Amino acid sequence: MQWVYEDTSIDWHELSNLYRIAPLGEKKPEDLRVVFANSRYKCFVLDNGRLVGVGRALADGRDCAYLCDVAVHPDHQGSGLGRAVIGKLKELAAGHRKIILYANPGKEGFYARLGFLRMCTAMAIFADQARAVQTGLVEEP
Ligand SMILES: CC(C)(COP(=O)(O)OP(=O)(O)OC[C@H]1O[C@@H](n2cnc3c(N)ncnc32)[C@H](O)[C@@H]1OP(=O)(O)O)[C@@H](O)C(=O)NCCC(=O)NCCS
Repeated sequence: MQWVYEDTSIDWHELSNLYRIAPLGEKKPEDLRVVFANSRYKCFVLDNGRLVGVGRALADGRDCAYLCDVAVHPDHQGSGLGRAVIGKLKELAAGHRKIILYANPGKEGFYARLGFLRMCTAMAIFADQARAVQTGLVEEP
C-alpha cells in the first residue's frame, strides 16, 4: 500500500467513484478538488496505483480539527484500513485541542471503537436541512 499526503496526482473522477461505491454518496470531481485543496490534512491510500482509502481534515492549527470524507473501497473494507486512515489523520492533527466529526448513520460504532465519544451539544445547519433530518444526521426540536 502506498500512502500519499498531497493531492497533486489524484484523479478526482476515480475519487468520486470511490465515494460512490464505498458508499458515501455522489461527490462531483470538481467539488472534491476544491474541498481537498482547502483541507489542511489529507491522506490517500493506493493499492497497486488504485485508490482504495481516503480521508481529509479541516484544521485551524491549534484548536479544532474536523475529519471528513473517510471511505474505504468495498474490496478492502473490514481489513483495518479505515482504522489506519483515521489513525493517520489523528496523527496529522495531533496537538489540536479537539478532533471532531459526524458519523454517517450506522458508522458510530466504528468511530467509538477508535476512541471517539458522542458529542452532547453538537449543532448543525445544513444547506438541505430537510434531507439531513430525513437521513438521521440531525433532529428537529
Ligand atoms: C466506515 C469505513 C471507513 C470503515 O472502514 P473499514 O476499513 O471497513 O474498517 P476497519 O476494518 O478498519 O474496522 C475497524 C474496526 O471498526 C469496526 N467497524 C467497522 N465498521 C463498523 C460499523 N459500521 N459499526 C461498528 N463497528 C464497525 C470493525 O469491526 C473493526 O473493529 P475491531 O478492530 O474491533 O475488529 C468503511 O466501512 C467505509 O468506507 N464505509 C462507507 C463510507 C462511510 O460510511 N464512511 C464513513 C463516513 S462518516
